[in-house]
Amino acid sequence: MRQKFTRLLARIAEANAAYHGQDTPLMTDAEYDQLRREAAEILAAHPEYAAAAAALADIGAKPAPGFAKLLHASPMLSLDNVFSAAEFAEFCARIRRFLGLDATALHFIAEPKIDGLSISLTYENRKFHRAATRGDGTEGEDVTPNILTLQSLPKTLPMDAPERIEIRGEIYMTKADFLALNDSQARQFANPRNAAAGSLRQLDSSITARRQLSMFAYAQGSSSAPVAATHGEYLEKLRAWGFTVNPLSTRLNEPAAPDFQAHIGLTRGDLPYDIDGVVYKIDDLALQSRLGFAGRAPRWAVAWKFPAERASTRLENIEIQVGRTGALTPRAQLAPVNVGGVIVQHATLHNEDEIARRDIRIGDLVELQRAGDVIPQILRVLQRGPATTPYLFPTHCPACGSLAMREPGEVIRRCTGGLSCPAQITERLIHFCARGAFDIEGLGDKTIIEFFDAGLLKSVADIFTLPEREAEIALRDGWGKTSAAKLTAAITARRTIPLPRFIFALGIRRIGENNAKLLARHYGSYANWRAHMAQAVIIGSDARLELGSISGIGPAIAEDLAAFFAEPHNLHTLDALEAHLTITDATSSTSDSPLAGKTIVFTGTLTMARPEAKACAEALGAKVTESVSKKTDYIILGADAGSKAKKAAEIGLKILSEAEFRELAGLQSLIV
Ligand code: IVH
Repeated sequence: MRQKFTRLLARIAEANAAYHGQDTPLMTDAEYDQLRREAAEILAAHPEYAAAAAALADIGAKPAPGFAKLLHASPMLSLDNVFSAAEFAEFCARIRRFLGLDATALHFIAEPKIDGLSISLTYENRKFHRAATRGDGTEGEDVTPNILTLQSLPKTLPMDAPERIEIRGEIYMTKADFLALNDSQARQFANPRNAAAGSLRQLDSSITARRQLSMFAYAQGSSSAPVAATHGEYLEKLRAWGFTVNPLSTRLNEPAAPDFQAHIGLTRGDLPYDIDGVVYKIDDLALQSRLGFAGRAPRWAVAWKFPAERASTRLENIEIQVGRTGALTPRAQLAPVNVGGVIVQHATLHNEDEIARRDIRIGDLVELQRAGDVIPQILRVLQRGPATTPYLFPTHCPACGSLAMREPGEVIRRCTGGLSCPAQITERLIHFCARGAFDIEGLGDKTIIEFFDAGLLKSVADIFTLPEREAEIALRDGWGKTSAAKLTAAITARRTIPLPRFIFALGIRRIGENNAKLLARHYGSYANWRAHMAQAVIIGSDARLELGSISGIGPAIAEDLAAFFAEPHNLHTLDALEAHLTITDATSSTSDSPLAGKTIVFTGTLTMARPEAKACAEALGAKVTESVSKKTDYIILGADAGSKAKKAAEIGLKILSEAEFRELAGLQSLIV
């Protein structure tokens, strides 16, 4: 019975996580309620399970959806992680390389990494205006009334604050408040982080008001005027304006970081709140802005996480998942186990060679590790299970039965079923509707699979014919007029889509959000992109060479794109989609920069290191190439420029000095 109860709770926890975190419920409300009823019945018969229930899962009610969305003035990004002194040293080395610094020690502000949820507070005319959660980083939820219930929130700022400023920080619940909250009610939160999130994300702010939430302010958003020259000074300002700044925040230089990390690691248990590491931020804000961002994380900060949590459990099965490109990925199914406050039921097994190399077998007792938000990993086999046999990786796709092949030199086995494989099609559909892509509310995994099985969805273009079948959908089990009408509205709202999202949605191998943006920026419009891709199918064509030379794309990715455009069924899908959609041009905030769209080459020694110069030019919309050709617009000459300078002069290219480049790029002029 206890095992059944544990399983039920784990399933509920999984459903909760999917529902709250991804807006993609794993099950219908009715199924969810049934699970909860079963758990409640067992609990009534076995009150001794109450403690396990508290530790295992949040079995509370789902908060109603329906927060207004707010667009962040600048994206709320995440942080890269390091786990050791060596990785931290590598992070510092990367900064020095980027900036072209020699052995100079870097100065950081070190702050505990609070295990809560990030918040953005906007002040207009020095009055508190609104608050938003991080959401997907671009768009968050409007939680203004809820934040207003925080007693420690400064409602106005003094005259030395800029007129308009956005301040970022972390909302958290202290360990004591978390325990008191769980003591006071039937609903049990798994940990303080969940409790803080559940309490903040309440549509009824009077509930938030009754919960004890706290906040640390720690980061800058956009502001109408600069506030400080260093992050340390910025934190001082925040303190002076009435915000709570973590008292452990410390200025230190690079060699002092490992000791600081060890000290905080040893004393973290004594802190009144949960932390999962220390964030190190470059103190000098001018250096921060030079370093900028790479993808979703700043180059100027890193989260040094505490060692991962470990636990042991039984490997119950090895499932094979089929991805949208046909890749067969093994996943461990585990007897549910609590690893540092989170119920874990699955772990990554990487690929078939890895399973064979480590001789992992179904039935083994394994040790697993969970670090931060990453998927748990199996560290080692602790004890061989009874009567096990070596695991045989399937040679056929478990979804469609087609042969699964490994290309020479590849570790991944792929289903050869293409679009006749139901798993590949549903995965493509799921990707197409997901966040970052079309983001269609109401078309989550479950619904897509339901519609696919019912024959309503066969390819992505069918999504846009669903509104015509609204009446039919309304009659389906679990649906009704309102939910069908909502789905129609959600689909209709996405008929206009920006080019980068469209490209990403297609699910082309290795074209993630970043590469989709690069392509969109390079080609500008959908028509132009498609025309170029049609030509790029031919190896050696100008279009193929151009594609492969886009900074960040390269020849291997160009091959994946060409493979996509060489398939007639993909072209049919594009034709069908075009008929339903308006794909808006990639507008670049940098399009008014004099460097936008220009191809430039750096040569010789510059005062700024090459990676910084390149990132700076690319941020302004320029394309940076290594070699000089007729397509080059500018060549920027550093000291001792060699053959490239000569060639540029021969072709008659426009030559810029570093000072001229800095002026075009709007950088500070050189102080010689
Ligand atoms: S700085 C551009 N400082 O960690 C990066 N983040 O893993 C801005 N966090 O989303 C974040 N404590 O929610 C920063 N002292 C701290 C933090 C902190 C916790 C969270 C934050 C962020 C996440 C990234």
